[in-house]
Amino acid sequence: MSDAIQVIPRPAQLTRVEGQYEFSAQVCIFVDPAAPHVAEALLRLLGPSVGVRGLRAEPVSGNGAGGITLSIDGSRREALGEEGYELRVETTGVRGVAATSTGLFWAVQTFRQLLPAAVESSADADKKGWSVPCCHIVDRPRFSWRGAHLDVCRHFFGVEEVKQYIDLLALYKQNVFHWHLTEDQGWRLQIEKHPGLTDQGAWRTKQDGSRYGGFYTQAQAREIVAYGQARSVTVVPEIELPGHALAALTAYPELSCTGGPFQVTGEWGVFEDVYCAGNDKALGLLRDVFDEVIDIFPSRFIHVGGDECPKTRWAKCPACQQRIRDEGLTNEHELQSWFVRQFDQYLTEKGRRLIGWDEILEGGLAPGAAVMSWRGTEGGIAAAQAGHDVVMTPHRHVYFDYKHKDGEQEPGRLGINSLETCYAFDPLPPDLTAEQSVHILGAQGNVWSEGMSDWPAVQQLVWPRMCAVAEMVWSPQADRDFADFVERLRSHGPRMEALGVNYYRDETVWA
Ligand code: ACM
Ligand code: ZN
Repeated sequence: MSDAIQVIPRPAQLTRVEGQYEFSAQVCIFVDPAAPHVAEALLRLLGPSVGVRGLRAEPVSGNGAGGITLSIDGSRREALGEEGYELRVETTGVRGVAATSTGLFWAVQTFRQLLPAAVESSADADKKGWSVPCCHIVDRPRFSWRGAHLDVCRHFFGVEEVKQYIDLLALYKQNVFHWHLTEDQGWRLQIEKHPGLTDQGAWRTKQDGSRYGGFYTQAQAREIVAYGQARSVTVVPEIELPGHALAALTAYPELSCTGGPFQVTGEWGVFEDVYCAGNDKALGLLRDVFDEVIDIFPSRFIHVGGDECPKTRWAKCPACQQRIRDEGLTNEHELQSWFVRQFDQYLTEKGRRLIGWDEILEGGLAPGAAVMSWRGTEGGIAAAQAGHDVVMTPHRHVYFDYKHKDGEQEPGRLGINSLETCYAFDPLPPDLTAEQSVHILGAQGNVWSEGMSDWPAVQQLVWPRMCAVAEMVWSPQADRDFADFVERLRSHGPRMEALGVNYYRDETVWA
């Protein structure tokens, strides 16, 4: 049958049916009033192109009215889960149903991919005579955490760029945006109680003497959160502790072990000056930060970093050594554990959950902590075996600061992760029991921006590899096939182009 259906991520069940749904001059739409963000998404999609006659208060009848009907039916929860949907495209109309508004939103993203790529373009092309292949899809995700991370600290990207990132995630049914907001190279979130964090911490001096930096005001951060909510994407903020803290310590050097002074750095790497674990004021500042972060970000999880914290300053610091004695700890690794535990407790009291990089396993994991396993899958496996939730993000598969290909002129750094290497990763380790496997929440692609000084560079490193992650975390493992993925991906080039994405023209896909 012509018009192969090229949806990414591949739906769990898909049947192509004879025929096409033809758009009439202007299409009638009914969207369940309980799903206003779905109605908005459909209007955004179709309004400028095919035209929408209006939202109907009643479902469009199925007798050739040619409309689109999207409804919520709570009784389908068992079959479709929290995020699943059923979509029927028939010659007489389009029907989507889900148990939740989120599921219905994903139905719209599937429908979007059935439409010609030109639907994404604001250019006023001739959009008459569009059709969509008839089909029947029943779909639900394999994992609940389908994420993408972005480092806005090594290089800063503005609100519009972050919104475009979220737009693309939603298109591929990715539901978590992990926003890496603090670093040695810049603090990017306004904190009202401690203005120095951005007054000084958001700016660094480049080698040529010019100032580089930027930050998001709280209003802008709330705008991003709302933008995500409108697209079924949860924004998970990351505030790094106890390491990667030079920008904060530049503003507040008294919170370090040595007292400074420090400079927000323009160099890459791991730096020895970190928050002093013996200083109650350091913990106090971070608690103040989390108070404001919690108010801005409604996400259940708050990321506290925890990676790459050298212990050299703590080993020589009288206050840190006093803390070790007072708390009955045996070494600096346990001191880091103690430090992280303070925030696990704090966030838990506020009804949130802490997540951190896999180094938080060293010296003992805080009781409520979830682990983001980046150095490999071992940390994630150990955490799941101990009953902790896990997000897999092993750098050898899903770090997008690595190049696509050896020797290629690319803005990335360090290693190589081909599209196939990325696609091949299965977030579920084979040696976990069924009970332990439940703790694998999902996976995500990570984007560290040392080697990406502008937005086109980010896009080139992220796309299309993020499509591989999207399919990895959504589609049934047994149905995943790289050759089949590549075949479908080919048609997404024009779509990304229409969206203004500078994607990598991977020769395994676009020969
Ligand atoms: C990391 O890549 N340092 C989490
Ligand atoms: Zn100290």
